[in-house]
Amino acid sequence: MAGSKRIGILSSGGDAPGMNAAIRAAALVGRSGGADIVGIERGYKGLLEDAFVPLMPNDVSGILREGGTILGSARCKEFHMREVRDKARSILANRGVDGLIVIGGNGSLTGALLLCDPKELGSQALNVIGIPASIDNDLGFTGMSIGVDTAMNTIVEAVDKIADTATAHDRTFIIEVMGRDCGYLAMTSAIACGADLALFPESGKPEQAIIDQIVQTVLTVRSRSRKSRRVIIIKAEGVGISTDKLKAEVDARLRDKSPNADPSGIETRVTVLGHVVRGGRPSAFDRLLGSRLGNVAVRALIGGDTLKMVAWMPPSEVPEDAGRCSAADPKCWLVDLGAVLVETENLLKGRSPLTRWRAGAFEEIEGALLM
Ligand code: F6P
Repeated sequence: MAGSKRIGILSSGGDAPGMNAAIRAAALVGRSGGADIVGIERGYKGLLEDAFVPLMPNDVSGILREGGTILGSARCKEFHMREVRDKARSILANRGVDGLIVIGGNGSLTGALLLCDPKELGSQALNVIGIPASIDNDLGFTGMSIGVDTAMNTIVEAVDKIADTATAHDRTFIIEVMGRDCGYLAMTSAIACGADLALFPESGKPEQAIIDQIVQTVLTVRSRSRKSRRVIIIKAEGVGISTDKLKAEVDARLRDKSPNADPSGIETRVTVLGHVVRGGRPSAFDRLLGSRLGNVAVRALIGGDTLKMVAWMPPSEVPEDAGRCSAADPKCWLVDLGAVLVETENLLKGRSPLTRWRAGAFEEIEGALLM
């Protein structure tokens, strides 16, 4: 396949700290490799509105340490419609764009796969490379996606602060963290924070078992004689039971167990970290990860590759015909986009060995380090 000469870059879906590092690296490396680089604002939505912007070295200077994405981002549900993708392809053709870098998560990379599906493309010259970016770390075949490390650090910082006040008042906190259907952020940050319990969807526990586990944890911690009696529970947003309902059920059970206690003393407090987890300046790791993935992505397009995602150190075996180590960076792999999306689905449905490994590894550590 011919190498791309004019490359568009867009960021799509939930933004992730480190996206700017990928934009910057792809723009600078692409230009020095002889390609023309342009930005597209607000993901596929902006593409449909023909919102192109220049990405000259000046435009990307100083963006490395900024959170979010200078190109803006959006979700674009209409992109699953063939006629909408046809419109996007004709806008790209009018602009002379023959290569596209899509920086985003599951939905964004699905859009990339459909956009360049040979059955729909016909004779149009358009190649696409995806860069995994989502704080959820729910994409297949990549050890890390852009934004995960910063999100973990943000959670740890917030939980450390909550733990100070929880300890001062002997309180129980349930802290909800983002992650959509994936419990990675909850599991990893629970270990990093020394939490007493982590709740995540991959455990498959039914509601009553979750409530029992929290009540048991609170009673165990409170029966200890040592000074600190705070209880920190980190809950992934993907856990089936809502945090409000969880609080109500747990509080009722704790009141039953301690009828003489002051109810305000035993009731749980809730903090939903929400979008705080997605913001902030990218960590050093995310700046490096974004830069390395951006570098490999643009080189892949210039070299004529298409329909691949640049993965960071795949944590599960990539099928032989679906991936290869990139010549530009031994830690980055070019993995077939279709295979990535199948593995992502497996990961989320609990069918991937990685899901079982994550939950199993967490339980081993949990037994020794938490509680
Ligand atoms: O996928 C990233 C993410 O932040 C998820 O963790 C979360 O469930 C979702 O996006 C929130 O999306 P929005 O910002 O569109 O409400």
